[in-house]
Amino acid sequence: MKLPDINILDEKDKILHKVSSDVTFPLNERQKKDIKDMLLYLKMSQIDEEREKYDLRAGMGLSYVQIGVLERIFVVVDEVDDGKFENYVIINPTIKSMSEELVYVGEGEGCLSVNREVEGIVPRHARITIDAYDENGKPFTLRVREELAICFQHEIDHLNGILFVDKIDKKNPYKDSEIMREI
Ligand code: NI
Repeated sequence: MKLPDINILDEKDKILHKVSSDVTFPLNERQKKDIKDMLLYLKMSQIDEEREKYDLRAGMGLSYVQIGVLERIFVVVDEVDDGKFENYVIINPTIKSMSEELVYVGEGEGCLSVNREVEGIVPRHARITIDAYDENGKPFTLRVREELAICFQHEIDHLNGILFVDKIDKKNPYKDSEIMREI
């Protein structure tokens, strides 16, 4: 596989703290290509051989703003089985409902734009339902849970200019961990 030529911005870049705008349909050729590139990049980052070859960090989700475009698109690649990947292309998402139950990633969340070790946890809803549009502008509703739900909330935050590090309590990075379920 050939690594797509995309440049993922580091958290020092102020654009990551800007709010992305809704996308209008139909998508243009550049948007379609960027979506394809982002999906392939994530997939390759999850394949050991490719990750080592290109010195990548493994990533599950990527928002358009992370390659510098302030439009409400994110993609997720979920390895559902050994070597079998499920792709998600999410455009103009809104959260329709969320579980009361909160969860967090015990080892801490990661982000391809945050290139350092970060101490602390982020409270996330265990399940969310979103309304969104696919690449053809067709609306759909999707319910996601557990790791995928955390990933979707992380990406929706990106579209609103928020990084996971912004959500960690500085004084008490493991605040409320006792009242949430660890994933
Ligand atoms: Ni991220």
